[in-house]
Amino acid sequence: MTSPAVSPERLRMRLEALAAIGADPSGRGTSRFPYSPSHLEAVRTVGRWMEEAGLAAGCDPLGNLVGFRPGTEDWPAILLGSHLDTVPHGGMFDGALGVVAGVEVAQALREAKYPPRHALAVVGFADEEGHAFDLGMLASRCLVGEIPAGRFGTIRGRNGQTLAAAMAAFTPDLPRAAVPSRAGAYLELHIEQGPVLVQAGRRIAVVTAITGIARTTVVLEGEAAHAGTTPMRSRRDALVGAAEIVLAIKSLAEVVGPPTVATVGRLWVEPGATNVVPGRVEFTVDVRTPDASRLFDLCRRIDRAIGRVGQRHGLTPRIAAWDQRPPVPLDASVQQAIAQAARDLGHELLAMPSGAGHDAMILAPYVPAGMIFVPSRDGISHSPREWTEWEDAALGAAVLLHTVLVLDSRGPLDARMLPVASQAALH
Ligand code: HGY
Ligand code: MN
Ligand code: MN
Repeated sequence: MTSPAVSPERLRMRLEALAAIGADPSGRGTSRFPYSPSHLEAVRTVGRWMEEAGLAAGCDPLGNLVGFRPGTEDWPAILLGSHLDTVPHGGMFDGALGVVAGVEVAQALREAKYPPRHALAVVGFADEEGHAFDLGMLASRCLVGEIPAGRFGTIRGRNGQTLAAAMAAFTPDLPRAAVPSRAGAYLELHIEQGPVLVQAGRRIAVVTAITGIARTTVVLEGEAAHAGTTPMRSRRDALVGAAEIVLAIKSLAEVVGPPTVATVGRLWVEPGATNVVPGRVEFTVDVRTPDASRLFDLCRRIDRAIGRVGQRHGLTPRIAAWDQRPPVPLDASVQQAIAQAARDLGHELLAMPSGAGHDAMILAPYVPAGMIFVPSRDGISHSPREWTEWEDAALGAAVLLHTVLVLDSRGPLDARMLPVASQAALH
C-alpha cells in the first residue's frame, strides 16, 4: 500500500474532456443542460471514468450519476460530489470540478491499494443550476424528497416538457443505481466563483456556511398596442414597468448592503415585435443574503415595489410563490477535517461563507456536509471566462483526498439516513 496521490494530469485531461461536452460551437463556454443529449454524453463519459476508478457506475431514476464502492468495514458512505449541469455558456469548472475530483480521489485510493474502511460514493447531480425548470438544486432536492415525486409531473420547463417526462426519457445505458441512503459525510470541492481567495492571496478555503437564496418569477400583464398610433400617456407598457422594477430591486439590495445581492437574470417580452408596445413581460428574480430574516424581508419589499409599479403603469403583476431557502451552516467537524487535510498538505486555509448556492446546502440537514473552495481568476464564474489555475484545481483535489483519509481514520462516522424516498416512488 503506498500513500494515495491525485494525478493532476488526469484531472486536467478529464476536465478538458468534460468541458467539450455541451461546448458552444462559437467557443462561448459550455451549455450542458439536464436531461439533454450533452448530459447523456457526460453521464456516459464520467461513468466510464468511475469504472476506471474502481467505482460501480450507474444512474438513479432522477438522472443523477452515482459511482459506488463498499468499504472494508460496514461503515456508512462518505459521499463526494457536485453537479454535471452548467448555466448557459458556463465555465468548465463549476460543478464539473467536484465530480471529476471525486472520481480522482477514488482512483488515487485504488491505485495506492488503499481501501477505505467507509464506503465511498461519487455523485454527479443532474440539475443544480435550475436553468431548465427554474428550480435551483433541483436534482438533490428531488433526491431527499424535498420535491416529492408526485410533483415531477407538474413541474414544467420552458420547452413545455415536464420533469417527469424528462427523467423518463433520460435513459443512459448504465445500470440503475442509488445514492447510498446510509451516509456519514458529504464533501464537495467547488470553485469559489467570487474574488475572496484571489484578493486574499490564498489557494484553499473551507466553507463555513452557504448563503440564503430566494427566487421567484414575475409576470406583468399590460396591453399590446400599436407602437406608432398609441399615445405615450395611454400605454400600459409591460416592459417599461419591468424596467422600473429591475432598478427598484437593484436599489433595495444596495440599501441593505453587502453581501446582500439581487439579480434579474432572465426576461421575456411579448409579443416581441419592433412595432408593438409590449403587452406582457415575464422575468426571474434571484435574491441572496446570509441572514434569513433579512432575506424574507427583502422578498416582501420587492413584492410591494412590484405592486406600486403595477399601479403606476396600469399593469397586473403576478408573482409566483417565492422559492425561499434560508442560509445553511456547514458541519464543524467536517470543516475541521478539511482544515487538518489542508495543514497536512502544508497549506493554511481561509474560512469563508459561500455566496453561491450548492447541493451541499440540500444535503446538510441530513448528513454532515463540508465544502472546499479553490480560487476563481478575477472572481468570475457563470461565464466562458471562468478559470481556475490547474495547480489550484489539483490542490483542491488533493485536499479532498486527504479529507477523506482524515474522516476515514476517525473510525466509523455516525451513520445518517438520507431520505431518498423519491427514488422508491419512481421505481
Ligand atoms: O446559483 C448558484 O449560486 C449556483 O451557481 N447554482
Ligand atoms: Mn456550482
Ligand atoms: Mn453554478
